[in-house]
Amino acid sequence: MTALDGVTLGLERGTFTAVMGPSGSGKSTLLQCAAGLDRPDSGIVRVDGTELTGGGEAELTRFRRGRIGFVFQQYNLLDTLTVAQNTVLPLKLAGRRVDRRRVRDVLTAVGLGDRLGHRPDQLSGGQRQRVAIARALVTEPRVIFADEPTGALDTRSARGVLRLLQDAVRVHGRTVVMVTHDPVAASYADSVLFLADGRLAGRMDAPTPDRVAERLAHLGDDVPTGV
Ligand SMILES: Nc1ncnc2c1ncn2[C@@H]1O[C@H](COP(=O)(O)OP(=O)(O)OP(=O)(O)O)[C@@H](O)[C@H]1O
Ligand SMILES: [Mg+2]
Repeated sequence: MTALDGVTLGLERGTFTAVMGPSGSGKSTLLQCAAGLDRPDSGIVRVDGTELTGGGEAELTRFRRGRIGFVFQQYNLLDTLTVAQNTVLPLKLAGRRVDRRRVRDVLTAVGLGDRLGHRPDQLSGGQRQRVAIARALVTEPRVIFADEPTGALDTRSARGVLRLLQDAVRVHGRTVVMVTHDPVAASYADSVLFLADGRLAGRMDAPTPDRVAERLAHLGDDVPTGV
């Protein structure tokens, strides 16, 4: 079984890209490989000028902790830790100094400046995902990968999360790659990549919800163009 087959793509620094496609088309696999959380059987992955597929496990882990942030659909917060403790975890794992003011600033930026001592089970889904975004931002990564970050959220919370990802790109110049099933979420991105059966099946710049929905409905109808 091949999850991804012959996918070649490059994403510009400082852009926001959405990845869409049917269930099982390889979106999560693509993200996991790009983020160095999984290794492709063949091929190379380069992030921020460094080849992830080149070195050993320790080197990869160090690189990932320094330059990559990851946001999951189900938040992946630790229930026994507070909001502030969850947020600083990547810094601790990387052996970096924890600047209390910076942690407060990051949490304030995601609208949780008054929740530092709360635990995840005292927060709504949208608030939990904003903690996960703060955790991804705290190391000031070059690239943020998000796998269906709004998949479990209501429309309003989703909008808050999407604006944060958009700001990471527009205000802070980071690169964001986000898997989503939602045409509205995809319209926050600069461009959309479509996957079908583990292959690239198209690309759309300046997406609108209507055009994205239309393209999704016809994915696989014809020969891929414009990739
Ligand atoms: N660790 C794995 N080993 C082998 N096959 C896998 C593995 N993970 C996923 N697959 C397979 O690879 C294909 C792509 O899976 P992937 O999870 O990337 O799809 P997806 O596009 O993210 O789907 P969804 O929208 O349901 O999340 C599927 O056929 C899946 O069964
Ligand atoms: Mg997936």
